[in-house]
Amino acid sequence: MENLDQKLRSVQQEFEQALGSASSSKSLEQVRLQFLGKKGEFTQLLATLKDLPIEQKRAFGSQLNQLKQDAQERFEQVKDELIAREVDAANAKQQNFDVTAYKPHAYPGHLHPYSQFVHEIEDIFLSMGYEICQGPEVDSEFYNFSALNIPQDHPARDMYDTFWTTRPDYLLRTHTSTVQIHSLQSKELPLAIVAPGRTYRYEAVDASHDFMFMQCEGLLVDKKVNVSHLFGTAQTFLKTLFGKDELDIRIRPGFFPFVEPGFEIDMRCPFCSKGCGVCKHTTWIEVFPGGLVHPNVLRACNIDPEEYSGFAFGFGLTRLAMLKYGIDDIRLFHSGRVAFLKQF
Ligand code: PHE
Repeated sequence: MENLDQKLRSVQQEFEQALGSASSSKSLEQVRLQFLGKKGEFTQLLATLKDLPIEQKRAFGSQLNQLKQDAQERFEQVKDELIAREVDAANAKQQNFDVTAYKPHAYPGHLHPYSQFVHEIEDIFLSMGYEICQGPEVDSEFYNFSALNIPQDHPARDMYDTFWTTRPDYLLRTHTSTVQIHSLQSKELPLAIVAPGRTYRYEAVDASHDFMFMQCEGLLVDKKVNVSHLFGTAQTFLKTLFGKDELDIRIRPGFFPFVEPGFEIDMRCPFCSKGCGVCKHTTWIEVFPGGLVHPNVLRACNIDPEEYSGFAFGFGLTRLAMLKYGIDDIRLFHSGRVAFLKQF
Protein backbone atom coordinates (compact mmCIF):
# COMPACT_ATOMS: atom_id res chain seq x y z
CA MET A 1 0.00 0.00 0.00
CA GLU A 2 2.70 2.40 1.19
CA ASN A 3 4.84 1.30 -1.66
CA LEU A 4 2.22 1.85 -4.29
CA ASP A 5 1.44 5.26 -2.89
CA GLN A 6 5.08 6.26 -3.11
CA LYS A 7 5.44 4.86 -6.59
CA LEU A 8 2.40 6.82 -7.64
CA ARG A 9 3.78 10.07 -6.36
CA SER A 10 7.17 9.57 -7.92
CA VAL A 11 5.64 8.77 -11.34
CA GLN A 12 3.56 11.90 -11.04
CA GLN A 13 6.66 13.93 -10.22
CA GLU A 14 8.69 12.46 -13.04
CA PHE A 15 5.83 13.18 -15.42
CA GLU A 16 5.70 16.87 -14.42
CA GLN A 17 9.45 17.14 -14.72
CA ALA A 18 9.46 15.57 -18.17
CA LEU A 19 6.65 17.87 -19.28
CA GLY A 20 8.62 20.88 -18.03
CA SER A 21 11.74 20.00 -19.93
CA ALA A 22 10.06 19.12 -23.24
CA SER A 23 11.09 21.93 -25.53
CA SER A 24 9.45 20.90 -28.81
CA SER A 25 6.36 19.05 -29.90
CA LYS A 26 8.67 16.21 -30.90
CA SER A 27 10.16 15.77 -27.42
CA LEU A 28 6.67 16.14 -25.98
CA GLU A 29 5.56 13.15 -28.00
CA GLN A 30 8.35 11.18 -26.31
CA VAL A 31 6.91 12.15 -22.93
CA ARG A 32 3.46 10.96 -24.01
CA LEU A 33 4.85 7.58 -25.07
CA GLN A 34 6.88 7.22 -21.87
CA PHE A 35 4.01 7.96 -19.49
CA LEU A 36 0.68 7.66 -21.24
CA GLY A 37 1.40 5.20 -24.06
CA LYS A 38 0.41 1.53 -24.07
CA LYS A 39 3.57 0.62 -22.21
CA GLY A 40 3.79 3.93 -20.37
CA GLU A 41 4.39 4.37 -16.66
CA PHE A 42 0.76 5.21 -15.76
CA THR A 43 -0.50 2.26 -17.75
CA GLN A 44 1.97 -0.02 -16.01
CA LEU A 45 0.79 1.19 -12.61
CA LEU A 46 -2.74 0.27 -13.58
CA ALA A 47 -1.48 -3.18 -14.52
CA THR A 48 -0.12 -3.76 -10.97
CA LEU A 49 -3.68 -3.44 -9.60
CA LYS A 50 -4.58 -6.94 -10.57
CA ASP A 51 -2.32 -8.36 -7.83
CA LEU A 52 -3.99 -6.35 -5.03
CA PRO A 53 -6.79 -7.51 -2.72
CA ILE A 54 -10.23 -6.48 -3.89
CA GLU A 55 -10.89 -3.47 -1.57
CA GLN A 56 -7.48 -1.93 -2.31
CA LYS A 57 -8.11 -2.52 -5.98
CA ARG A 58 -11.27 -0.46 -5.73
CA ALA A 59 -9.69 2.43 -3.82
CA PHE A 60 -6.53 2.59 -5.82
CA GLY A 61 -8.19 1.79 -9.07
CA SER A 62 -10.33 4.89 -9.11
CA GLN A 63 -7.48 7.03 -7.78
CA LEU A 64 -5.16 5.78 -10.49
CA ASN A 65 -7.72 6.24 -13.25
CA GLN A 66 -8.33 9.77 -12.07
CA LEU A 67 -4.58 10.39 -12.04
CA LYS A 68 -4.15 9.09 -15.54
CA GLN A 69 -7.02 11.23 -16.77
CA ASP A 70 -5.51 14.31 -15.07
CA ALA A 71 -2.14 13.52 -16.59
CA GLN A 72 -3.75 13.26 -20.02
CA GLU A 73 -5.41 16.66 -19.58
CA ARG A 74 -2.19 18.19 -18.29
CA PHE A 75 -0.38 16.76 -21.27
CA GLU A 76 -2.88 18.30 -23.74
CA GLN A 77 -2.55 21.65 -22.01
CA VAL A 78 1.27 21.66 -22.22
CA LYS A 79 1.07 20.49 -25.82
CA ASP A 80 -1.24 23.38 -26.81
CA GLU A 81 1.06 25.89 -25.15
CA LEU A 82 4.11 24.49 -26.86
CA ILE A 83 2.51 24.52 -30.31
CA ALA A 84 1.38 28.10 -29.78
CA ARG A 85 4.94 29.04 -28.84
CA GLU A 86 6.34 27.30 -31.92
CA VAL A 87 3.88 29.09 -34.23
CA ASP A 88 4.75 32.44 -32.63
CA ALA A 89 8.47 31.78 -33.14
CA ALA A 90 7.96 30.83 -36.80
CA ASN A 91 5.89 33.99 -37.39
CA ALA A 92 8.48 36.17 -35.68
CA LYS A 93 11.19 34.62 -37.82
CA GLN A 94 9.26 35.49 -40.96
CA GLN A 95 8.59 39.02 -39.81
CA ASN A 96 12.26 39.54 -39.12
CA PHE A 97 13.18 38.36 -42.62
CA ASP A 98 15.06 41.22 -44.24
CA VAL A 99 14.60 41.20 -47.99
CA THR A 100 17.29 43.84 -48.40
CA ALA A 101 19.88 41.89 -46.42
CA TYR A 102 23.23 41.58 -48.22
CA LYS A 103 24.33 38.02 -48.79
CA PRO A 104 28.09 38.22 -49.20
CA HIS A 105 28.73 35.29 -51.55
CA ALA A 106 25.61 35.40 -53.70
CA TYR A 107 26.45 35.03 -57.40
CA PRO A 108 24.57 37.67 -59.33
CA GLY A 109 24.30 35.88 -62.71
CA HIS A 110 25.07 37.38 -66.09
CA LEU A 111 24.55 36.96 -69.82
CA HIS A 112 25.45 33.62 -71.35
CA PRO A 113 28.91 33.62 -73.00
CA TYR A 114 27.19 33.25 -76.37
CA SER A 115 25.16 36.42 -75.83
CA GLN A 116 28.23 38.30 -74.63
CA PHE A 117 30.21 37.20 -77.66
CA VAL A 118 27.39 38.06 -80.08
CA HIS A 119 27.19 41.56 -78.56
CA GLU A 120 30.95 41.97 -78.92
CA ILE A 121 30.84 40.98 -82.59
CA GLU A 122 27.81 43.15 -83.28
CA ASP A 123 29.55 46.15 -81.72
CA ILE A 124 32.55 45.72 -84.01
CA PHE A 125 30.40 45.57 -87.14
CA LEU A 126 28.13 48.39 -85.98
CA SER A 127 31.24 50.55 -85.62
CA MET A 128 32.02 49.74 -89.28
CA GLY A 129 28.55 50.86 -90.39
CA TYR A 130 26.87 47.45 -90.68
CA GLU A 131 23.26 46.77 -89.80
CA ILE A 132 22.34 43.73 -87.64
CA CYS A 133 19.83 41.38 -89.30
CA GLN A 134 18.08 38.17 -88.44
CA GLY A 135 16.44 35.42 -90.44
CA PRO A 136 14.27 32.39 -89.67
CA GLU A 137 15.95 29.23 -88.35
CA VAL A 138 13.41 27.09 -90.20
CA ASP A 139 13.55 28.08 -93.82
CA SER A 140 12.77 26.74 -97.29
CA GLU A 141 15.27 25.01 -99.52
CA PHE A 142 15.04 28.06 -101.82
CA TYR A 143 16.73 30.31 -99.24
CA ASN A 144 19.15 27.70 -97.98
CA PHE A 145 20.17 26.29 -101.37
CA SER A 146 18.56 27.25 -104.71
CA ALA A 147 18.84 31.03 -104.40
CA LEU A 148 22.42 30.56 -103.23
CA ASN A 149 23.34 28.95 -106.53
CA ILE A 150 23.06 25.40 -105.16
CA PRO A 151 20.44 23.84 -107.45
CA GLN A 152 18.59 20.66 -106.58
CA ASP A 153 20.73 17.55 -107.23
CA HIS A 154 23.90 19.66 -107.19
CA PRO A 155 26.63 17.77 -105.31
CA ALA A 156 27.35 20.89 -103.24
CA ARG A 157 24.19 20.10 -101.27
CA ASP A 158 26.15 17.18 -99.81
CA MET A 159 28.45 19.70 -98.09
CA TYR A 160 25.59 20.39 -95.74
CA ASP A 161 24.16 17.52 -93.71
CA THR A 162 20.65 18.78 -93.47
CA PHE A 163 17.83 18.37 -90.97
CA TRP A 164 14.72 18.29 -93.16
CA THR A 165 11.37 18.97 -91.54
CA THR A 166 8.19 16.97 -92.17
CA ARG A 167 6.91 19.90 -94.26
CA PRO A 168 8.26 19.29 -97.80
CA ASP A 169 11.14 21.59 -98.82
CA TYR A 170 11.56 23.04 -95.34
CA LEU A 171 14.69 22.56 -93.26
CA LEU A 172 16.66 23.86 -90.28
CA ARG A 173 19.03 26.32 -91.94
CA THR A 174 22.47 24.77 -92.39
CA HIS A 175 24.13 28.19 -92.56
CA THR A 176 23.28 31.84 -92.00
CA SER A 177 23.76 32.50 -95.76
CA THR A 178 19.95 32.30 -95.98
CA VAL A 179 19.92 35.84 -94.53
CA GLN A 180 21.84 37.08 -97.60
CA ILE A 181 18.78 36.28 -99.74
CA HIS A 182 16.21 37.60 -97.23
CA SER A 183 18.13 40.88 -96.99
CA LEU A 184 18.65 41.28 -100.74
CA GLN A 185 14.93 40.73 -101.27
CA SER A 186 13.77 43.16 -98.61
CA LYS A 187 16.33 45.96 -98.42
CA GLU A 188 17.40 48.86 -100.57
CA LEU A 189 20.87 48.88 -102.10
CA PRO A 190 23.56 49.60 -101.15
CA LEU A 191 23.47 47.40 -98.06
CA ALA A 192 25.87 46.12 -95.42
CA ILE A 193 24.48 43.60 -92.96
CA VAL A 194 25.70 41.03 -90.46
CA ALA A 195 23.48 38.24 -89.20
CA PRO A 196 24.64 36.21 -86.21
CA GLY A 197 22.47 33.21 -85.47
CA ARG A 198 21.97 29.53 -84.89
CA THR A 199 22.60 26.98 -87.62
CA TYR A 200 21.96 23.24 -87.68
CA ARG A 201 23.74 20.25 -89.18
CA TYR A 202 22.81 16.61 -89.01
CA GLU A 203 26.02 15.61 -87.30
CA ALA A 204 27.30 13.25 -84.63
CA VAL A 205 28.10 15.31 -81.53
CA ASP A 206 31.64 15.31 -80.15
CA ALA A 207 34.03 17.82 -78.58
CA SER A 208 34.31 19.83 -81.78
CA HIS A 209 30.95 19.16 -83.50
CA ASP A 210 27.46 19.97 -82.38
CA PHE A 211 24.23 19.61 -84.32
CA MET A 212 23.56 23.25 -83.49
CA PHE A 213 26.20 25.96 -83.57
CA MET A 214 26.41 29.66 -84.29
CA GLN A 215 27.57 31.44 -87.40
CA CYS A 216 27.74 35.07 -88.38
CA GLU A 217 26.95 36.03 -91.93
CA GLY A 218 28.13 39.26 -93.52
CA LEU A 219 27.00 40.79 -96.79
CA LEU A 220 27.90 44.06 -98.43
CA VAL A 221 26.48 44.98 -101.83
CA ASP A 222 27.24 48.22 -103.61
CA LYS A 223 28.72 49.43 -106.88
CA LYS A 224 32.34 48.51 -107.61
CA VAL A 225 32.93 46.26 -104.61
CA ASN A 226 36.06 44.14 -104.93
CA VAL A 227 38.03 41.53 -103.00
CA SER A 228 40.25 44.07 -101.24
CA HIS A 229 37.15 45.33 -99.42
CA LEU A 230 36.52 41.82 -98.15
CA PHE A 231 40.11 41.30 -97.03
CA GLY A 232 40.24 44.69 -95.32
CA THR A 233 36.98 43.98 -93.50
CA ALA A 234 38.19 40.55 -92.36
CA GLN A 235 41.46 41.97 -91.07
CA THR A 236 39.87 44.91 -89.25
CA PHE A 237 37.29 42.65 -87.63
CA LEU A 238 39.80 40.02 -86.48
CA LYS A 239 42.28 42.62 -85.21
CA THR A 240 39.58 44.29 -83.12
CA LEU A 241 38.16 41.01 -81.81
CA PHE A 242 41.54 39.73 -80.66
CA GLY A 243 42.71 43.16 -79.46
CA LYS A 244 45.78 43.26 -81.73
CA ASP A 245 47.26 46.35 -83.38
CA GLU A 246 48.58 44.16 -86.16
CA LEU A 247 47.25 40.78 -87.27
CA ASP A 248 48.26 39.29 -90.59
CA ILE A 249 45.76 37.47 -92.72
CA ARG A 250 46.43 34.91 -95.43
CA ILE A 251 44.18 34.13 -98.35
CA ARG A 252 43.64 30.76 -99.96
CA PRO A 253 41.13 29.76 -102.62
CA GLY A 254 37.97 28.14 -101.28
CA PHE A 255 34.85 26.79 -102.93
CA PHE A 256 31.35 27.93 -102.03
CA PRO A 257 28.72 27.93 -104.81
CA PHE A 258 27.37 31.36 -103.80
CA VAL A 259 30.66 33.25 -104.16
CA GLU A 260 33.04 33.68 -107.07
CA PRO A 261 35.91 33.87 -106.44
CA GLY A 262 35.70 32.12 -103.07
CA PHE A 263 38.30 32.26 -100.30
CA GLU A 264 39.40 30.82 -97.03
CA ILE A 265 40.86 33.62 -94.97
CA ASP A 266 43.30 32.56 -92.27
CA MET A 267 44.59 34.75 -89.49
CA ARG A 268 48.00 34.72 -87.90
CA CYS A 269 47.69 32.88 -84.58
CA PRO A 270 46.91 35.58 -81.98
CA PHE A 271 48.26 33.38 -79.17
CA CYS A 272 51.84 32.69 -80.29
CA SER A 273 54.55 33.69 -82.73
CA LYS A 274 56.28 30.37 -83.29
CA GLY A 275 53.40 27.88 -83.27
CA CYS A 276 51.29 26.45 -80.45
CA GLY A 277 48.57 23.91 -79.75
CA VAL A 278 45.81 26.29 -80.87
CA CYS A 279 47.28 26.84 -84.37
CA LYS A 280 48.48 23.23 -84.53
CA HIS A 281 52.04 24.57 -84.81
CA THR A 282 51.40 26.28 -88.16
CA THR A 283 50.99 29.87 -86.82
CA TRP A 284 47.87 30.17 -89.03
CA ILE A 285 44.23 29.61 -88.09
CA GLU A 286 41.43 29.15 -90.61
CA VAL A 287 38.60 31.40 -89.51
CA PHE A 288 36.90 33.41 -92.18
CA PRO A 289 35.38 31.92 -95.35
CA GLY A 290 34.10 34.44 -97.87
CA GLY A 291 34.16 35.71 -101.42
CA LEU A 292 32.50 37.95 -103.96
CA VAL A 293 28.76 37.39 -104.27
CA HIS A 294 28.09 35.09 -107.23
CA PRO A 295 26.19 36.83 -110.07
CA ASN A 296 23.57 34.06 -109.92
CA VAL A 297 22.77 34.99 -106.32
CA LEU A 298 22.22 38.62 -107.32
CA ARG A 299 20.10 37.51 -110.29
CA ALA A 300 17.96 35.27 -108.02
CA CYS A 301 17.13 38.46 -106.12
CA ASN A 302 16.45 40.53 -109.26
CA ILE A 303 19.66 42.55 -108.95
CA ASP A 304 21.71 43.29 -112.06
CA PRO A 305 25.23 41.87 -111.55
CA GLU A 306 26.55 44.27 -114.19
CA GLU A 307 25.57 47.19 -112.00
CA TYR A 308 26.10 45.83 -108.51
CA SER A 309 28.71 43.63 -106.88
CA GLY A 310 29.34 42.61 -103.32
CA PHE A 311 31.19 40.41 -100.90
CA ALA A 312 29.90 37.88 -98.42
CA PHE A 313 31.42 35.99 -95.54
CA GLY A 314 30.14 33.52 -93.00
CA PHE A 315 32.36 32.64 -90.09
CA GLY A 316 31.78 30.11 -87.36
CA LEU A 317 30.88 32.25 -84.38
CA THR A 318 31.02 29.27 -82.04
CA ARG A 319 34.45 28.36 -83.37
CA LEU A 320 35.74 31.90 -82.89
CA ALA A 321 34.37 32.00 -79.34
CA MET A 322 36.12 28.69 -78.59
CA LEU A 323 39.37 30.07 -80.02
CA LYS A 324 39.19 33.37 -78.22
CA TYR A 325 38.35 31.89 -74.81
CA GLY A 326 40.31 28.65 -75.15
CA ILE A 327 37.21 26.44 -74.86
CA ASP A 328 38.09 22.94 -75.97
CA ASP A 329 34.67 21.29 -75.88
CA ILE A 330 31.77 22.74 -77.89
CA ARG A 331 29.27 20.82 -75.73
CA LEU A 332 30.07 23.06 -72.74
CA PHE A 333 28.07 25.94 -74.29
CA HIS A 334 24.78 24.20 -73.69
CA SER A 335 25.80 22.09 -70.72
CA GLY A 336 24.32 24.58 -68.26
CA ARG A 337 27.33 23.97 -66.03
CA VAL A 338 27.65 26.77 -63.53
CA ALA A 339 31.41 26.24 -63.15
CA PHE A 340 31.82 26.85 -66.89
CA LEU A 341 29.41 29.78 -67.10
CA LYS A 342 30.91 31.52 -64.06
CA GLN A 343 34.16 32.08 -65.92
CA PHE A 344 32.60 34.62 -68.28
N1 PHE B 1 27.82 29.54 -95.63
C1 PHE B 1 29.15 29.00 -95.72
C2 PHE B 1 29.24 27.77 -94.81
O1 PHE B 1 28.48 27.66 -93.88
C3 PHE B 1 30.20 30.02 -95.34
C4 PHE B 1 30.28 31.16 -96.30
C5 PHE B 1 29.44 32.25 -96.16
C6 PHE B 1 31.22 31.15 -97.31
C7 PHE B 1 29.54 33.31 -97.07
C8 PHE B 1 31.31 32.20 -98.19
C9 PHE B 1 30.48 33.28 -98.04
O2 PHE B 1 30.02 26.90 -95.02
